Amino acid sequence: MLELQNLSFSVTEDKQEKQILHGISLTIPDDKLVVLTGPNGGGKSTLAKLIAGIEQPISGKILFNGEDITGKSITERARMGISYAFQQPVKFKGIQVLDLIRFATGKNTLSVADACDYLAAVGLCAKDYINREVNNSLSGGELKRIEIATVLARGAALSIFDEPEAGIDLWSFQNLIQTFDSMRRSIPNSSFLIISHQERILNIADEIMVLANGRIEHSGDKAEIMPELIGTASAVPGCRKLEGGDESVC
Ligand SMILES: Nc1ncnc2c1ncn2[C@@H]1O[C@H](COP(=O)(O)OP(=O)(O)O)[C@@H](O)[C@H]1O
Ligand SMILES: [Mg+2]
Repeated sequence: MLELQNLSFSVTEDKQEKQILHGISLTIPDDKLVVLTGPNGGGKSTLAKLIAGIEQPISGKILFNGEDITGKSITERARMGISYAFQQPVKFKGIQVLDLIRFATGKNTLSVADACDYLAAVGLCAKDYINREVNNSLSGGELKRIEIATVLARGAALSIFDEPEAGIDLWSFQNLIQTFDSMRRSIPNSSFLIISHQERILNIADEIMVLANGRIEHSGDKAEIMPELIGTASAVPGCRKLEGGDESVC
């Protein structure tokens, strides 16, 4: 279980302090898939970076399975079971896709066929990519998929995906959603934090949190939050035929 307690973050810009996150408190229980959504610039990626240890909060605490990890490094957090796929993926010059996937699984002897399965899950034709170097020769979308594949391969207790839909075509996207689902079932007690604007990802959430202007504005069950996001609950038209009204409206 991940717990954020009153987490704040600011940066200094032109000698002025700019506060980006204001006292964020939230919990991601084991076995839950939480989708974090909200307007661009709201602070979603920053929050993911704080959880992964890439940025440090100015105040507040991060607890993972009851342990305070606020001061722990990225590597320590990764070892404890936190895995993060950046919104803007990272390149690894001189390293092949196969090496990266083997490294993610922690199995040097992982077969090429097994490594290829992870690439297939993100819609990449594995034979074309498995021996490619993870460098500038790959497009943004390809890098993004490879990075998602490594997080899938890691199979961590908490997997964080920042806008996984970016750079992925619709067909592969449907596949990816199924992959998230099967990953949930195959890793006991695993939890997911997926940052997304996509309705189809919102639809697989157990809980949805809306982050805007550095604050959690809404959070709750999907059933409760979805109508607020699409319009308002009262804006969903009722069926007048069922209510005994004008049939032509239904
Ligand atoms: N290192 C930084 N320096 C200056 N501004 C930053 C930095 N990191 C994030 N920000 C600003 O913080 C706000 C939130 O950014 P971000 O977390 O990327 O939002 P989101 O992912 O919700 O679109 C943005 O206004 C962004 O420009
Ligand atoms: Mg972002």
